[in-house]
Amino acid sequence: MTFREDGAAALEWAARYLERVGELPVLAQVEPGEVRSRLPAAPPESGEPFADVLRDLDEILLPGTTHWQSPRFFAYFANSASEPGILAELLAATLNSVAFIWRTSPASTELEAHMLDWTAQLLGLPSGWHGHIEDTASVSTIAALAAAREANGGHVVVCSEEAHSSVERAARLLGLETRKVPLDAEFRLDPTAVDLADAAALVATVGTTSTTAVDPVPLLADACEAADVWLHVDAAYAGSAWVCPELRWSQEGVERADSVVVNAHKWLFTPMDCSLLWTRKPEALRAAFSLVPEYLRTSDEAESLSDYGPALGRRFRSLKLWAVLRCYGREGLQVRIRETVRLAEQFESSVRDEPGWELCAPRRFSVVCFRRDGSDGENEAIVERVNRSGEAFLSQTRLNGRYVIRLAIGSERTTEDDVRRAWDALRAAAAG
Ligand SMILES: Cc1ncc(COP(=O)(O)O)c(C=O)c1O
Repeated sequence: MTFREDGAAALEWAARYLERVGELPVLAQVEPGEVRSRLPAAPPESGEPFADVLRDLDEILLPGTTHWQSPRFFAYFANSASEPGILAELLAATLNSVAFIWRTSPASTELEAHMLDWTAQLLGLPSGWHGHIEDTASVSTIAALAAAREANGGHVVVCSEEAHSSVERAARLLGLETRKVPLDAEFRLDPTAVDLADAAALVATVGTTSTTAVDPVPLLADACEAADVWLHVDAAYAGSAWVCPELRWSQEGVERADSVVVNAHKWLFTPMDCSLLWTRKPEALRAAFSLVPEYLRTSDEAESLSDYGPALGRRFRSLKLWAVLRCYGREGLQVRIRETVRLAEQFESSVRDEPGWELCAPRRFSVVCFRRDGSDGENEAIVERVNRSGEAFLSQTRLNGRYVIRLAIGSERTTEDDVRRAWDALRAAAAG
């Protein structure tokens, strides 16, 4: 077999997978250890045909796959890898650029900077900010907090009780303390309870993981400016919504942040992984990360994006973002984001109108928080039954001490019928 023939077979596999993923059980129907038990204990001595790899992908790995590309994946933050993004991943692997300094990958370095400018325009962020790509929001936040520590020497990271765990993990890694601020009645950081003493940074969240609440960024920006504290905005999920003018209310005050993270792999139809980090203080990131040994020194007068984060070798991630932005355009992105929000609105109405069910938090974007009247155990059993059935996959959170079910819509492939099927499955599970 040649690269061309194997490649055609792989592409056919991908196309066929996307056609049928909606028919597969969303949550993998395997027990822990089952996938490994089907794999040979030792690697092959001599090479095998690529066709055998594709066969075992079907027979061994697919049954052990939880289908994030399923239109009825409603857990965590549902997302989708779009077709242009998938194809661009193939091309990025083909080029195999390792962009640690400009000359090792001028195209990757410059396209990355340019895509961050394009995305800033699409989302309505200030022009002139410095942007680069990290793998995940966890690493973007590590980069931002390292810069904050460099900038003002503080040793505390302030965030709300609903900030994502990646904030506390980044603080721990950097030897910083975390100070959690209580919430108001709508699960937002309560600005009256903020204490910025010894703080390096305050992390405000636009679109919290549990409920998609939006922290009061303008008030927090005032406090940070007065105390010379770095303001990092975690908009990993909701930042993509800013492509729609009607959702830009959630951006108020973000233009005053020192750094902002938005995950294109969450709600901007870009395959995992592609986390966008902008800052208006690039010199602080450079101070935190830049180190040039002799073997990396050149006479090129060009910036290297590895100076802005922990990794030296960097993948050509901007290629997939470029493909998505070009093939969808502003309009295509808006249509898709609006549809996920519309479907969430519809699901919210179904819950509101059905006796015996309760909405548990205001819906801001495409996530609905709700529960069935009854105990936490009963609600947990409902979710477990739906997930085990393979019909849909949902996850949960805890609000005011109570178990709450989350339905998150983020796939471009989700339709009204998919949402109705999830609702039917939940009601059937509740009926026992
Ligand atoms: C608000 C928020 N921030 C950060 C993260 C971490 O994202 P990543 O998995 O890219 O590190 C998440 C993940 O869901 C999130 O919801």
